[in-house]
Amino acid sequence: MKKPFVAGNWKMNTNGHTSMDLADRLASAFTELAGRNVTVAVFPPFVYLQAVGKALNGSGIALGAQDVYFEPDGAFTGEISISMLRDIGCNYCLCGHSERRHVIGETDGLIRKKVSAAISGGLLPILCVGELLEERKASRTNEVVTRQIKEGLSGLSAEKLAAVIIAYEPVWAIGTGLTATPQQAQEVHDFIRKLLSQMYNQRSAEDIRILYGGSVKPDNAAELMGQKDVDGVLVGGASLKANDFLVIIRAVMRFKMPV
Ligand code: 13P
Repeated sequence: MKKPFVAGNWKMNTNGHTSMDLADRLASAFTELAGRNVTVAVFPPFVYLQAVGKALNGSGIALGAQDVYFEPDGAFTGEISISMLRDIGCNYCLCGHSERRHVIGETDGLIRKKVSAAISGGLLPILCVGELLEERKASRTNEVVTRQIKEGLSGLSAEKLAAVIIAYEPVWAIGTGLTATPQQAQEVHDFIRKLLSQMYNQRSAEDIRILYGGSVKPDNAAELMGQKDVDGVLVGGASLKANDFLVIIRAVMRFKMPV
């Protein structure tokens, strides 16, 4: 069984003081967690990455960025490169988070460039996909997710796919308290795995980790993790409270122990 993954996306939250406090609490609690049959990563705002990375050093919790730019350097005001993120100890980056797609206006084409550049530059991308409420109501979930995955991974070899993590985050479940039911999550995760099996091969599809995100909380994490194709969670709001995030990590460890 693959190692489950718990990601905490802090979004545009925390300040210098609260980001350090959160990192310190997570670091000391995680060091004590027996086994560690789980990968945990946090995604703080860019400006706190370095300090949070220092606070997490040696704890076993990895560091990730909420976004990245695909060009290596140059006149791209406001953007952050892959090598800058590697430089300060980042191992992961989110690509195509729903807020970047729907609030900032990122396209599938731009997201594809980010995914591809991240892998080439040594960052592991978490490609986020998910449908809007009206798309679900119109039974278009599979169509939307297919487009986002096919375009986001376009041109990527099976070998490079091994570096990718997929996060299914239905937009209607993000920050709303409306979680997808475990069955709804499982259905889409199963669909994504079958799609990847057609695009690549069965082995690659089985090996890839597919996370669920959207109002994951301490009281629903276990149920979600109980689903066959849910390999981890991408947590927003609940990752800002150390205790809640730790309860979620423990639930994930309990349900998905790699052999
Ligand atoms: P919430 O857990 O706050 O719904 O956010 C989910 C998310 O967008 C994680 O990337």
